[in-house]
Amino acid sequence: MPFTIAIDGPAASGKGTIARALAAHFGFHHLDTGLLYRAVGARGGDPVAAARGLTAADLARDDLRSAEAGQAASRVAAIAEVRAELIVFQRRFARQEPGAVLDGRDIGTVICPGAEVKLYVTASDRVRAARRARELGADADEMLAQLRERDARDAARAVAPMRPAADAVLLDTSDMTIEAAFAVARDTVATRL
Ligand code: C5P
Repeated sequence: MPFTIAIDGPAASGKGTIARALAAHFGFHHLDTGLLYRAVGARGGDPVAAARGLTAADLARDDLRSAEAGQAASRVAAIAEVRAELIVFQRRFARQEPGAVLDGRDIGTVICPGAEVKLYVTASDRVRAARRARELGADADEMLAQLRERDARDAARAVAPMRPAADAVLLDTSDMTIEAAFAVARDTVATRL
């Protein structure tokens, strides 16, 4: 049976970095599920059709990392039919041997409710805005406003809102180095393997 690690949390919480590092450490597959919504948002046109026709090549576009692509992703991610179209791909990914790490907003709650390990990674919005501003070379105040708008939309939507699963381990990385956060995540996984 494959082993599944579900990592959720808001943008720039460190969840992507932790997910990649866990996958490398344990030899698991990794899927950044935000890329699916970013690719749908970036396609334009009918988002449901875009979600239905999504291919691996769509996920490799360089422009998906921008703040604009993040905002567009968050808008299409609130559409129930878009989310429904993306479920099968994500669940199939999660079943790969020997295991998989998926990071997003609803992995522990909706996509992989039976995951062996669930982590909910957070950080204060000021810390997250400062991190994202450094990464993108953007203004921290502008990033803070954008993150707050996106968090509010992701947490308030009717379908698969961003929230920790009841059985998730909470990891607040506000005052942690990425190495320290990874060590906590790695030890959490190691005790359940
Ligand atoms: O994680 P990332 O910032 O790339 O996600 C972009 C947007 O995609 C999020 O703001 C959220 O609206 C949406 N998303 C989602 N469910 C996921 C992953 C991302 O709704 N599992």
